[in-house]
Amino acid sequence: MVRMRRLRANEAVRSLVRETAVSRTDLVYPMFLIEGEDIKNPVDSMPGIYQYSVDRMDEELDRVADAGIPAVLLFGIPKEKDENGSGAWNDAGVVQTAIRRIKAKLPELLVIADVCLCEYTSHGHCGLLRGHKILNDETLVPLGKMALSMAKAGADIIAPSDMMDGRVRYLRDVLDENGFSDTMIMAYSAKFASGYYSPFRDAAHSAPSFGDRRTYQMDPANRREALRECETDIEEGADIIMVKPALAYLDIVREVSDRTCCPLAAYNVSGEYAMVKAAAANGWIDEKRIVMENLTAIKRAGAKIIITYHALDAAKWLAEEE
Ligand code: PBG
Ligand code: ZN
Repeated sequence: MVRMRRLRANEAVRSLVRETAVSRTDLVYPMFLIEGEDIKNPVDSMPGIYQYSVDRMDEELDRVADAGIPAVLLFGIPKEKDENGSGAWNDAGVVQTAIRRIKAKLPELLVIADVCLCEYTSHGHCGLLRGHKILNDETLVPLGKMALSMAKAGADIIAPSDMMDGRVRYLRDVLDENGFSDTMIMAYSAKFASGYYSPFRDAAHSAPSFGDRRTYQMDPANRREALRECETDIEEGADIIMVKPALAYLDIVREVSDRTCCPLAAYNVSGEYAMVKAAAANGWIDEKRIVMENLTAIKRAGAKIIITYHALDAAKWLAEEE
């Protein structure tokens, strides 16, 4: 008789046959940086997550560095927005200022700059508009300016999340032509038009003022198209590709991981975080167990890099277990 339970009899043998281990070095911690002074605003729909002004962000960055997390992903919340999102490439902008400060203080910490216009446009869309149409090629120009401004400030990785076609090649060219051929690109490749982003839009003040993002983000029903998006971004020069959200899209993570050799990230997004935190706050689930189970599932599906708001907690729990 085959007795599968022999391999489950105690923790020693279970640890010996365990196939997947999440490590602190897999994690990326997203942070919201708000223009202004002395600000630490809680994000209501994301308990434990705050908007920090640059002068207050050090407390959080110290926790990230002490936890052994290798990278942060930065989002900016500017005071002023306009039609074209011109604040996005202001060299004195909130994210650019934060990057210079992080690189001076914690040079080893990898800084990933999200590149998208939606936090900087008055209409909240990720691209330039003609009427209610989101323009593709015209949007590449401001994205290029934003990416260059982030690279000049010292960003190690540029992460375009806009979903315009051709942006990876365009940004690669802009970076190379300006002496930033060492700056990496982590492309939000298969980014779905998801209901799981709404807490983020509260946190980053980036909800679209009309319509939705379905003409540029992917249809949640599509698998083959996700593979095509990933292939295209690799061809265009992405160093790292991404599937987003993570948990409802683990089939996509698995398939992309099987079919490509490019490092793969999965973004465990705001709505996924909010659901876990809400159920935990009600005492309905054991937060630590659920978080570690979710992160293990994302890694088991084939993502090496996990972008998650749980990163600080997870790193602490992993260190306790060492
Ligand atoms: C901006 C952007 C979004 C997220 C990351 N970059 C929101 C959106 O597309 O509306 C979502 C992240 C999250 O929900 O945690 N383009
Ligand atoms: Zn956007």
